[in-house]
Amino acid sequence: MLLGVNIDHIATLRNARGGHEPDILTAVRICKDCDVASITTHLREDRRHIKDEDVELVRKFPRVRLNLEMAMTKEMQEIALRIRPHAVCIVPEKRQEVTTEGGLDVAGQIDWAIEFTKPLLEKNIEVSFFIDPDVHQISAVSKTGAPFIELHTGKYSNAYGTNEEEKAFQDLKGAAIFAQNFGLKVNAGHGLNYENVHRMHEIPYLQELNIGHSIISRAVFVGLEKAVKEMKALCENKQ
Ligand code: PXP
Repeated sequence: MLLGVNIDHIATLRNARGGHEPDILTAVRICKDCDVASITTHLREDRRHIKDEDVELVRKFPRVRLNLEMAMTKEMQEIALRIRPHAVCIVPEKRQEVTTEGGLDVAGQIDWAIEFTKPLLEKNIEVSFFIDPDVHQISAVSKTGAPFIELHTGKYSNAYGTNEEEKAFQDLKGAAIFAQNFGLKVNAGHGLNYENVHRMHEIPYLQELNIGHSIISRAVFVGLEKAVKEMKALCENKQ
């Protein structure tokens, strides 16, 4: 499996003082030198971490594949069409939440999802929907023309090591198989860390894991390069 690194919390730390440190582009360079598959930034409606200019700078960084996470709003669609990231991952967003708490309800807004996706695909932007492992959501995504889903692994991550783990894990595995049968490619992410990531190898067809919080947290103690390399090894090699 490939590793995409979410650098939002480099920006969280930077914004705590309002200056330039830690520098986003230094983080991008370190991740690129570790040969990660992509850099993810979530441009939230409230700009609480990543800012518009960050997205533009990451997009211009040579030989870096930008995955822009964003809500399914007109504003974000316009930004994506202007900046043209390599990929977008469409996520639900609530202002009050600390992080993306669940998957997007694509089935409940299918007409808007189709309309939203079309111009992005026409600009050759790879589109992915961040959804819970749910067959109705997967079949809805297949109607939009988007080639990818990203499975929300939050339930599995929270349940890891408890009685709930197996059910949450089997839901992910079943969803990945179901999606593959629909011709969709499958990524996954949220809450994955150095302990729980190993079970992702048991899920067939997973292409890329998008991981942020655990990597940036570990980087505080061991440095970003080491933190990324360790996670990349866990993604690439079955233990
Ligand atoms: N994938 C998506 C779509 C997300 O919204 C997030 C969190 O921003 C992640 C992956 C990464 O989650 P975490 O920071 O918990 O690794």
